[in-house]
Amino acid sequence: MIIESKDDVTRAVLEEMQRTPDARIKEILAALVTHLHAFVRDVGLTESEFQAAIGIINAIGQKTTPSHNEAMLLSGALGVSNLVCLLNNGAMGTRPTQANNLGPFFRAGAPRCENGASLLRSPTPGQALFFKGFVLDEEKNPVAGADVDVWHSSTVGLYENQDPAQADMNLRGRFRTDAAGSFAFRSVKPAGYPVPTDGPTGALLRAQQRHNMRPAHLHFLIYKPGFKTIASQVYDPEDPHLETDSQFGVTRALIGRYVKRSDGSYTLEFNFVLEAGEARLPQAPITGKAAA
Ligand SMILES: [Fe+2]
Repeated sequence: MIIESKDDVTRAVLEEMQRTPDARIKEILAALVTHLHAFVRDVGLTESEFQAAIGIINAIGQKTTPSHNEAMLLSGALGVSNLVCLLNNGAMGTRPTQANNLGPFFRAGAPRCENGASLLRSPTPGQALFFKGFVLDEEKNPVAGADVDVWHSSTVGLYENQDPAQADMNLRGRFRTDAAGSFAFRSVKPAGYPVPTDGPTGALLRAQQRHNMRPAHLHFLIYKPGFKTIASQVYDPEDPHLETDSQFGVTRALIGRYVKRSDGSYTLEFNFVLEAGEARLPQAPITGKAAA
């Protein structure tokens, strides 16, 4: 159609998109255009603001490398990652769930570990941690033979992919649950860490006077055919940033209970419940490690 005024633009786009053969793509793109145009009208977006927005979107891509995923980081900082997670897990958002954001730092191909093995692959300071996890189905029966990827940052606040000083795959490992549905590892108690601020996510946080810290956590990815694959994170209840996570990941169901032992080490046990469903591993947001 020939556009006579600003009022015609949304209809013109939606009409042209009517031909989309895939019903779901058609639905998503029609809603996207409808909401995006409404947003532009609501805020009265100026031309210079539009140019700035284009620059931000371009910068997201330019900032992304094999060892850093800026789009994933920004979606967390906007709360979209956890919204999608909670919408799709816990009986479609009606029950608490152990599912949580995958986050931008999952790497596939972590070394296979025996139960109880250490995640340390190069010297890593920190208080010793003994973790034991149980993977259960919705009836609380153990789920044996599930693959569990584990990863976390060092107490310096960096994942190994960000930090050339750490060995490849330091603080990462892949475990398999035993007949009791359990898996266990040794590591160091994680500390909270700052997310990178040298890209558009950092500009967003600065513009809103937000800090860039994430509360201390351990990451998990649990996979077994017949169950819906979940990513999870277990948070430290004493972290000062628990209520202001810059990635909006903390839910009540994911606050762990560390127990300090007389020798200064910590133990942590946690139950993960899997729902019946499709097992599908997510695409890893990063594929490599930062060069020295
Ligand atoms: Fe993390």
